Amino acid sequence: MSDPTRKRVLLGVTGGIAAYKSPDLVRRLIERGADVQVAMTASAQKFVTPMTFQAVSSRPARTDLWDAAAEAAMGHIELARWAELILVAPASASFLARLAHGRADDLLSTLCLASEAPLAVAPAMNRLMWANPATQANVTLLRSRGIRVLGPATGDQACGETGPGRMLEPLQLAEEAFSLLRSSAALIGVRVLITAGPTREHIDPVRFIGNRSSGKMGFAVARAARAAGAQVMLVSGPVALDTPPGVRRINVETAEQMHAAVREELSGAQIFIAAAAVADYRPSAPASQKIKKTGVAMDMRLEPVPDILASVSADQRRPRLVVGFAAETERMEEHARQKLEGKHLDMIVANKVGGQLGFDADDNALLLLWPGGSRRIERGAKLAIAHELMAAVAERFHEQEREGAGRPANKRTGKERRKARG
Ligand code: PMT
Repeated sequence: MSDPTRKRVLLGVTGGIAAYKSPDLVRRLIERGADVQVAMTASAQKFVTPMTFQAVSSRPARTDLWDAAAEAAMGHIELARWAELILVAPASASFLARLAHGRADDLLSTLCLASEAPLAVAPAMNRLMWANPATQANVTLLRSRGIRVLGPATGDQACGETGPGRMLEPLQLAEEAFSLLRSSAALIGVRVLITAGPTREHIDPVRFIGNRSSGKMGFAVARAARAAGAQVMLVSGPVALDTPPGVRRINVETAEQMHAAVREELSGAQIFIAAAAVADYRPSAPASQKIKKTGVAMDMRLEPVPDILASVSADQRRPRLVVGFAAETERMEEHARQKLEGKHLDMIVANKVGGQLGFDADDNALLLLWPGGSRRIERGAKLAIAHELMAAVAERFHEQEREGAGRPANKRTGKERRKARG
């Protein structure tokens, strides 16, 4: 019988000379507390035999989708469900291409498609194959789907060349695998409420005041929160994005509707993350009919809309962790700190907007600030950095839980609050 405290890692091995290091990786994973099941492609078996993996993992390596005896013992769908993490090391250029295109033409690619477990790949190939635009496009696509790409390292290669394309060393891969396992369970069952996208404030029935938010950042945060095991409710402004799997979603249009939806969902939320670009002002008297062109200048009176984030932070039902975003075009850190303090937040996520990052871009770069700490997340695909953000959010959340000794943030004593603020 398997030990429930041990982590279940499915190690995929594909065809490349770095496969000779994979038996050592199996041992490193086992030492750290994993049960390891190896699945090999046909090309991998040209480099290392299944028997080697059986010897180090104490389980027969799986090699064939059509192996009736192995399927009778544990079918491939069952195996895909068994895995808490799938790590493919080495991952060849060919395997990355098949994964990017959703091929399920052998056991390993089928397992990757059929599993909900986090998936990480450790590319290993010649430096020119790695640099090839086709490989780079595949890697970008995989990253955008939340697949972690570990490495490659730069150095001497088996082919005699030097450059990027070496598989990371087994020790480092084992550590990365365990860090992924920790983050994928970091928020199990925690209720997270997220706002995303823009709002639209009506001028008349056909015109509105809006902004350039695409919702990509907030949706990536929702996806990453779900991947960390959270129960996620997403309140979204008008965007053209699919709802991430496993996430509940409420669509709204105006800041007022977003505010009402957030108030409705606030009870029971343990973390609130405001990634939406909410309007600050709306027309005070929207016209009921289309405003006619007169050819002369016109003035429009605007009134402030409620600040959703500030109102959540001040609410009696305040979630334990309240996280705001700050979209800044200048003096980013200074302005973000003002918002952190002014709205009494537990964390602010600052991003520079107006250039190639931030609004409507696929990439972003973040500066996280909280009372007594900060962390930079370097430029990357929004989903990749959302995973890093959620790891930091989970850390702060669990810290607050310990400091608040089980009391909600708004019911803490002054001493607890001061301690939490550092
Ligand atoms: O959607 P994308 O195209 O992917 O772009 C992502 C993003 C740039 C929109 C996102 O990363 C981001 O920065 N979101 C916050 C944008 C914003 O409105 O920032 P702000 O500095 O104006 O507001 C500060 C905070 O108060 C934000 O958390 C905002 O959601 C919140 N707010 C603001 C006004 C208001 N009426 N209610 C609020 O809750």
